[in-house]
Amino acid sequence: MSEVVNSWNEWDPLEEIIVGSADGANFEPTEPGNRPQIRNAAPGTPFPTGPKSAEQVDRANEELAGLAEVLRSQGVRVRRPAPHDFSQPVRTPDFEVANQYCAVCPRDVMITVGNEIIEATMSRRGRYFEFEPYRELVYEYWNADPRVGWTTAPKPSMANKMYREGFWDWPLAERHARMHEFEFCITQDEVVFDAADISRFGRDLIVQESMTTNRAGIHWLRRHLEPKGFRIRPVHFPLDFFPSHIDCTFVPLRPGLILTNPDRPLREGEEKLFLANDWELVDVPEPTTGNDDMPEYCQSSKWLSMNVLSIGPNKVVCEEREKPLQDLLAKLDFEVFTIPFRHVFEYGGSLHCATWDVRRTGTREDYFPNSDYQPLV
Ligand code: ARG
Repeated sequence: MSEVVNSWNEWDPLEEIIVGSADGANFEPTEPGNRPQIRNAAPGTPFPTGPKSAEQVDRANEELAGLAEVLRSQGVRVRRPAPHDFSQPVRTPDFEVANQYCAVCPRDVMITVGNEIIEATMSRRGRYFEFEPYRELVYEYWNADPRVGWTTAPKPSMANKMYREGFWDWPLAERHARMHEFEFCITQDEVVFDAADISRFGRDLIVQESMTTNRAGIHWLRRHLEPKGFRIRPVHFPLDFFPSHIDCTFVPLRPGLILTNPDRPLREGEEKLFLANDWELVDVPEPTTGNDDMPEYCQSSKWLSMNVLSIGPNKVVCEEREKPLQDLLAKLDFEVFTIPFRHVFEYGGSLHCATWDVRRTGTREDYFPNSDYQPLV
């Protein structure tokens, strides 16, 4: 029997995947790690709280069902999260938050690293319990195959002291001055990471230092995964002043090809690892929608355009309106599937974010044979 959980990179032929659900979704709470804003609203306009409307939920669910449909048509087994009441508050000894968020973006919470499932620590209070809708599936996989590993990363306190709250009020000039420090709204004291800051390349995991992943989080990943033969390689995108989740910035599509974001180049010198190992970095075209025209409750940038999902090394799903990117992908010899997905944007992501792949064919390969790596021990 082949492994029930087996996914080593972002592009091998897809066999089984979880597609998120907007059921029970709430507006993300304002908290030290997040200050959501209505797009183009007057300063000070409060962000809504509590459950999203039935219409908002239905529209997103329809598009998520469309994604599931395309994946099934390609022979992929599609699974969905269990229902969860996100309107419940969270109260721990260290904090309290009025409601939770949603199960639209499993990518942010869950990651498959080979035959192991890792639940991220998460970085925001409203997402503290976001692993719950996936636990039934995790138990199913874990029970089905003794080779399945399952790790939950240590939960941080998410107490006030974990956050640098002034961060949200720094003027642009200060952000610019600080852009090489890579200090954001979380401090370095506790282990913090969201799963979506990691991009899987076989033996190597590329991890972005961000608002949602700190250096202690990266250190934890190293200590946990290096003994298993992985290499953890931090990357930085100094021109992204609000970095969170790597999949709108740096998107590998097959061995040798990474889609890159022209507004967010790698920190100088970090491109060498890729170039020395024959990876081509290809800038994506300008998105078809400007930042000002993104859906009003969407907290992500226009670069959701490049958040494509690989069904295999020559097959990708791309948002319906992103014609320039579709043309580029076709030129690069991909078969491109297009679906509408814009109503999902206000739930934190697009096609890659809204999924968590648990099984792809393939094994662990070394895509970076030409590199020095200093393991911790
Ligand atoms: N911060 C990214 C941007 O605005 C959005 C990332 C979404 N990714 C995700 N996995 N939820 O460009």
